[in-house]
Amino acid sequence: MSLIADYLKKYIDELQPLCDGDIGKIQKEAYENNVPIISNDVVKLLGFVLSVVKPKRILEIGTAIGFSSSYMSDYLAEGGHITTIDRFPVMFEQAKENFKRLELEDKIELIEADAGNILPKLEGEYDVVFLDAAKGQYINFLPHIYRLLKVGGILIADDILQDGAVALDISEIKRRQRTIHCRMNDFLWEITHNPCLKTTILTVGDGVAMCHKIKNTEGLILNERK
Ligand SMILES: C[S@@+](CC[C@H](N)C(=O)[O-])C[C@H]1O[C@@H](n2cnc3c(N)ncnc32)[C@H](O)[C@@H]1O
Repeated sequence: MSLIADYLKKYIDELQPLCDGDIGKIQKEAYENNVPIISNDVVKLLGFVLSVVKPKRILEIGTAIGFSSSYMSDYLAEGGHITTIDRFPVMFEQAKENFKRLELEDKIELIEADAGNILPKLEGEYDVVFLDAAKGQYINFLPHIYRLLKVGGILIADDILQDGAVALDISEIKRRQRTIHCRMNDFLWEITHNPCLKTTILTVGDGVAMCHKIKNTEGLILNERK
């Protein structure tokens, strides 16, 4: 399902070609085999943002087969570096092969772990954080992202609108999906109300949030919502 009318999605998709070369082959194969990589309109959005930002350090949470990290590596500043995290061996083993095939092993560090365990241990400052992992965990990862993102840095979070279900009343959500629904609503409230962020919510792909960290955060302000 798309967040915009089908005819418009088709039009935009036809305007924006897939990637070229080996990375394009990885992208095409992933779409054909339903591997959960970012949609092509999100690829274009990332390319646009990163070509403006020219980041030195990127943190990605959710590697899958390494498509988005490989794509983003093209936009790194001289000597730049990506750290990407995934917990699922079926995915990260393919990512390792892809990084080797694309000769990106020097630029991309893969951490094979649950982000919930590894984020508290990470140090340093990142120019960009790309959040594309389990949607129910976004709110839990956010305090660590606040700490790791430099002032002036950008958080980009993918798949935030859940085919539009995020906007429905809880009574309309299947019981087993209610926890994720509440957590995503908490995440969206937090990033749109925290005064340390300038945030925009876009209906690109399945929804993308972009947050510019404009000053140091004390932590979540979510308790102010209750
Ligand atoms: C949508 S895919 C990422 C796609 C990738 N960013 C791309 O576009 O090429 C989400 C990935 O996040 C990983 N993931 C989900 N929850 C995670 C967690 N708590 N820690 C680490 N990885 C996680 C999954 O194993 C999966 O490979």
